[in-house]
Order: sequence, then structure tokens, then C-alpha cells
Amino acid sequence: MPFTAIVLAAGEGTRMKSRHPKVMHKVLDKPLVWWPVTAARKAGASRIVVIIGNGAQEVKDFFAQEETSTDTTPVEFVEQKERLGTGHAVKVARDQLGAFSGPVVVLAGDTPLIKPETIQSLVEKAKAEHDACTVLTMTPDDVAGYGRVVVDDKDHVQAIIEDKDCTPEQCATLKECNSSIYCFCGRRLSENIDKITNDNAQGEYYLPDMIKIFVGMGEPVGWIHCPDYHEVLGVNNRVQLAQVTKVIQHNINEQLMLSGVSMLDPDQVWIGPEVTVGQDTTLLPQTILFGKSSVGSNCTVGPNSRLVNAQVGDGCTVDESVIVESIVENDVNIGPRAYLRGHTHMLNGSKAGTHVELKNSTVGEGSKVPHLSYIGDTVMGKNVNIGGGSITCNYDGKHKSHTELGDHVFIGSDTMMVAPVKIGDNALIGASSCITKDVPAGALALERNHQIIKEGWADAYWKRLEKED
Ligand code: UD1
Ligand code: CA
Repeated sequence: MPFTAIVLAAGEGTRMKSRHPKVMHKVLDKPLVWWPVTAARKAGASRIVVIIGNGAQEVKDFFAQEETSTDTTPVEFVEQKERLGTGHAVKVARDQLGAFSGPVVVLAGDTPLIKPETIQSLVEKAKAEHDACTVLTMTPDDVAGYGRVVVDDKDHVQAIIEDKDCTPEQCATLKECNSSIYCFCGRRLSENIDKITNDNAQGEYYLPDMIKIFVGMGEPVGWIHCPDYHEVLGVNNRVQLAQVTKVIQHNINEQLMLSGVSMLDPDQVWIGPEVTVGQDTTLLPQTILFGKSSVGSNCTVGPNSRLVNAQVGDGCTVDESVIVESIVENDVNIGPRAYLRGHTHMLNGSKAGTHVELKNSTVGEGSKVPHLSYIGDTVMGKNVNIGGGSITCNYDGKHKSHTELGDHVFIGSDTMMVAPVKIGDNALIGASSCITKDVPAGALALERNHQIIKEGWADAYWKRLEKED
């Protein structure tokens, strides 16, 4: 069922002790506000309005750079310049966007664990019962600070009383709390939001005051109890940010393990929400998979590995390595301690060994860069072997130049390839050469001084040193 989502995210977040807005602090690799926005998208929101205020530009910039498919609901912004309360935030949205129609789900930008199914059930109940508002409630262990929900004997909500406005008796007896997530009838919300006043302990315009306004008008207000209050936990400081991150890390890892991925220690594996991992892949400790990364089946990744926007195929090993913005096909061995970046592409059966850096390069099928090399801006054919310590000199201080290596090229150890340079198929470069000119296919290129042998010289030298003592 289509609905509008309003995500309240204008708050100061003073307790984060940060120069950044609270909702931009990250849970795994996504800012807090991304999570309720994504839950709303998954639940089928046809319109998403994010109320921003503190650090507004940072929030806008994040969603502007977000890569989404064309069928993803875009985010609209409403700037709430003065933060006069949650009711004021929704009124500002109504003033800027015009009256709402259809269901309007209000979510909090700092509540990342909310599930799409919960949002859907709220919308469905509101629709089925023609409620002016349906409130998602919870019973946390510690109710302090939360608005308390008053329910009558007909199972309708009568009022929400903020903690600071409760009498001591209400404080002691009312245990059902407001999660700050609601589904409103857009029309009735728009028509009556101006009735909220700031006549309360905090001098704020409370959105929950809509409930007593509706009740006074004889409009029905329903509720759904959220059985696990952790789902609606809000983040106010960095301790809670870490706690919520642990819960999401655990949920993502558990789902992957149940789908056939092994983890030696799931507490030491961090996987972002947009990552996929195939069956019979093992993730070792201190592995981070972020961005739109994917790892195929039968791989081993880790220990100490980080993948960001990396596509890794089947049967690969990534050992103590970092792969950023790169593609790795099948049966590729990487590491220990390799660094692939800048749109590197490793074809089937290739290898990037220990202390190897590859940038913006294609490593052909079966080609190997086994040890201590830097290969940048290079296209390599198949079955190439790069000897240890070889480097493409692709940067002259101003320009980046390209290197081309044909099929079956053999580069001796400690070769410098000064780009731009082309080395033809089957060519062989003698160790320690500095290649500045193109090498034709099938040729040997050698650039080194002649070796000098002085028979007995060393023996004489050692003897001379001995006498000096
Ligand atoms: C709110 C509810 C309370 C509920 C609790 C659950 C109100 C008055 N109270 O209290 O009943 O139990 O959430 O966590 O709504 N915001 C704006 N603009 C504003 C004020 C707030 O965008 O002018 C945003 C904040 O950034 C935050 C959300 O609204 O994301 C909630 O505001 P907050 O002040 O934290 O309300 P609580 O005191 O937690
Ligand atoms: Ca809050």
C-alpha cells in the first residue's frame, strides 16, 4: 500500500559531542538516517520526506551521492530552521509541501533498527480501522524519558503524555511507551496539525499531542505494540551508536551464516547492508565488507581484509588484503598484503601476491604479479609473469601514462617499465632492466651494465681488512 514517510532528523544531537549532525553518524558503513529511509523504501513508501535542520547540507549531500536504481523512491527534504518540537517539524513539512493525502508514516532519523514489516503492519492496521492515527508502542525495561501511552477499555489510545508532563502516579503506572513511530491519515493530520500548542513542560510543539486532539474530535486512534523494543531504540550518544551497530552486525552476520557462509568469529566480521556473500565462503577475523561489495562462493576472505565496492567471483582467496572499487573474477589469489584499487580488473585464474599494489589495471587470465610490485594504468594480456620488484613508472610528476603488456610476456625481476610503453606478445625482459622503449612481440629486451669479474679480488680485500686490526 503506498504511503508517505516523514523521517524526523532535524535534532541537534548534542549528546553525540560532534561537529556532524547526529543522523550522519554511521552504523557500519551507512549513516543513521539511511536505515529508516531504507526501511521505508522496502516497506513500499511512495514518497519520503526527511526533515533536516542541524547539519542539513551534510544530510543532503549524502543522499545526493547515493547510487540507487531508478525504481528507488527519492528523498525530498524539508528544512526546519527553528527546532520547536516534533509537532512543529511535521507542520513545517505540511507548510512547505502542501496537505498530505493517504497514509503518512512518521519515523525517527535516529532509530535504525525499525523493520519494513513493522511499518507495513502499521499502515495496514491504520487503513483497516480508518484510524486518524495508529501509534507504535513499546515497553522498554526503563521507561524514563519516554512519552506514556494511555489506552481506554475499548483498546483505543486516549493520549500520549510526555515523561516530563506525567504526574508521579502516571509515571508509576503507565508502562506502555510511545516509540515516536506513527501512521497518520494524511488528510486529518494536515487539517489539524495547527491545533498543537506548546503549552507543556518543555515549551515544545509535541507531535504526540495530535492524539488528544483527534480523541477530542471523536476520531479513532489505534495502536500496535512492538514486541521487541530494541527494534525502536533511538541513538542519542556514541555508546548507543555502538550498541545498535552490534545488533545490526549480529543480524546481518546471522542471516549470512544461515544462508551458507562460515565465519570463524562473527564478532570480528563487519558486513554492510548492501553486500552479498555466496555459499561455502569463509570469512576470517577482522574482515570488513562495505559498500556494494559482493563475494562469490567457495572463497576465503581474511584475516585482516577490507573490501569496499569490490566484486569478487567464486573460488578466490583474499588474504590480509584491501580491495577498493575493483573487480576480481573467479579462482583469483590475492595477498597476503595486496592492495587493489582504482578499477582494477583481475581476470580468471590470475594472482596478485604479497606486497603488490594494482591501480586501474587489468590483469589477464592466468597472469601473475606475485611479489613486491606496483602496476598502475596497465593492461596485461593472459599468462603474463611479472618478476618480483617490478614497477610501472606511470607518473612523471604531472601525467599518468599507460603500459600495455601482450600475452605470455615475461618480465624479469626488478624491471622498471617507464610509461607510456608497449611490450608485445611473448616478449622477455631481462631482470633489472629499465624499459623506456616499446618491445616488439617475441623479442628480448635487456637494459643493464655488463657484469665485471675480478678473480680473487674479494679474497684479497678481506685479508687486507684483517691486517688492519
Ligand atoms: C519523542 C516523543 C516521545 C517518545 C520518544 C521515543 C515527542 C514530543 N516525544 O521524545 O513520546 O516516547 O520520542 O523515542 O515527540 N526532531 C525534529 N525537530 C524538532 C524536534 C525533534 O526533527 O523540532 C526530531 C529529532 O531529531 C529526533 C526526533 O524528532 O529524531 C525525536 O525528537 P526528540 O526530541 O528526540 O524526542 P524525544 O524526547 O526522544
Ligand atoms: Ca529521541
